[in-house]
Amino acid sequence: MIILLVFLILALDISYTQAFPETGNKIKSRTFLSTEFVLGPGSVASKTYYDIDFPRGHIALKSFNAEVVDQAGNSVPLYETYFHHWLVGKYHEHRPSGRNFSRNNGLCQGQILGQYFGLGSETRKTATHIPDPFGIETGNPAEIPEGYQEKWFLAVHAIDTRGVEDRLGCTECWCDLYNVTIDEDGNPIRPEYKGDTVQSQTGFSGGRRSFYLRYMVKWVDWDSSIIPVKVFVLDVTDTGKRLHGSTGISPENGCQIEYEVESCTATDPASQACIDIKRNSLTMPTGGYVIYAVAHQHAGGIGSTLYGQDGRVICTSIPIYGKGNEAGNEDGYIVGMSTCYPEPGSVKIIAGENLTLESNYNSTNKHIGVMGLFYIYIAEQTPNVTLTHAPVQIHENMKLTAYGWSVVAFIGLAVTTAIAVYSWLKKRREGGYKPVPK
Ligand SMILES: *[C@@H]1O[C@H](CO)[C@@H](O)[C@H](O)[C@H]1NC(C)=O
Ligand SMILES: *[C@@H]1O[C@H](CO)[C@@H](O)[C@H](O)[C@H]1NC(C)=O
Ligand SMILES: *[C@@H]1O[C@H](CO)[C@@H](O)[C@H](O)[C@H]1NC(C)=O
Ligand SMILES: *[C@@H]1O[C@H](CO)[C@@H](O)[C@H](O)[C@H]1NC(C)=O
Ligand SMILES: *[C@@H]1O[C@H](CO)[C@@H](O)[C@H](O)[C@H]1NC(C)=O
Repeated sequence: MIILLVFLILALDISYTQAFPETGNKIKSRTFLSTEFVLGPGSVASKTYYDIDFPRGHIALKSFNAEVVDQAGNSVPLYETYFHHWLVGKYHEHRPSGRNFSRNNGLCQGQILGQYFGLGSETRKTATHIPDPFGIETGNPAEIPEGYQEKWFLAVHAIDTRGVEDRLGCTECWCDLYNVTIDEDGNPIRPEYKGDTVQSQTGFSGGRRSFYLRYMVKWVDWDSSIIPVKVFVLDVTDTGKRLHGSTGISPENGCQIEYEVESCTATDPASQACIDIKRNSLTMPTGGYVIYAVAHQHAGGIGSTLYGQDGRVICTSIPIYGKGNEAGNEDGYIVGMSTCYPEPGSVKIIAGENLTLESNYNSTNKHIGVMGLFYIYIAEQTPNVTLTHAPVQIHENMKLTAYGWSVVAFIGLAVTTAIAVYSWLKKRREGGYKPVPK
């Protein structure tokens, strides 16, 4: 208990680190701990916490870094507690408790993939910082509806795989594992979901443990020299269909989030390559300069590329697989994704441009519930060029960089699932938000 208290105090220490060159504005950094979640071997935590600790006021977010720790503050390796995803989103609260989700810039609708930050197993080795003078603007009083307060929620989805025979397999079929076949209102969720039932529990006798999401946020106070970025999450399953008023995952809503990869021997016995290539075309509603981009894939993923309409590469993002035993390097797990930080102004997307998203998986084995997401942050101007006066031709200048744990993560990737947005969805299914949250 004392250890925990000391840890809490240390964790909440606030520090002011680098200078923000444009303005002298200091980058602020603060580390928070989520509410505790408790897991026993084979069990799953799928929690949404509202009104989490988060920097307040009119600010620009610069990075967001998170990982699962135990009660002593130690990093927990993925083979003990598989971190399916965490994600952080924004809502406007109307007292006493009405909540209006305040999503990112697209492309899906409703609450689907509407988070600002979110990662899965790759969280420890994926860079998410936003270079100066850019940032994600938040807390702008002009954008918060009258009578509402801006707040943040955190969704955490973790699976305790201690004692599980097929640990990586178990992480793919979490839906049946914890019996999520109906939602809190008794409606079936995603009946088409084919996650295999996991029968791999082997009488492992480990005890229940407490975990926390430890997250570090960096930000600067807002000023006019900061250039805001728009946050887009592209989904390779997005068919482009949009059903007016629908926010749940259904065939009428183009974003299915997850898909399946058939084994190559099942689809083509003579297949040599055993690579599943999934491509789709997505129309960008607004244009701008790409400041940051990264893909999200699950185990089995071998990389993802976002192409412009003319075929130029906007970003290629490749999974980093662990090779060892320690947290951040777990053998066989995706422990990071490479990111793209193009020279601001060099990679431009035009409003209405049709991008192609390609997500590749190793199909030697069948995979269930995989994802092919691409996060892109777009600025309408750079310090030197504004979009309206910028030359129309498109340059290709893509930098691919993998950053280590020491690099602070920010926003980013997300790993979202039906479960992640589950508590939002059920409310929308009723045609509105519940006045009183559970
Ligand atoms: C899932 O449901 C089965 C059958 O009702 C039950 O035996 C099992 O304990 C449940 N598992 C979890 C994780 O709740
Ligand atoms: C913007 O201007 C700065 C300073 O003049 C220069 O160093 C930088 O290369 C320019 N960037 C671009 C994208 O032109
Ligand atoms: C993008 O694709 C749509 C649908 O095929 C088409 O109507 C539109 O003209 C395309 N946009 C551009 C910029 O070519
Ligand atoms: C796919 O996975 C199989 C089995 O793990 C492996 O032998 C093969 O090299 C992988 N192929 C690629 C392209 O990664
Ligand atoms: C919040 O959501 C409720 C219910 O959907 C709606 O009536 C209200 O207009 C929304 N408020 C704002 C500011 O959008």
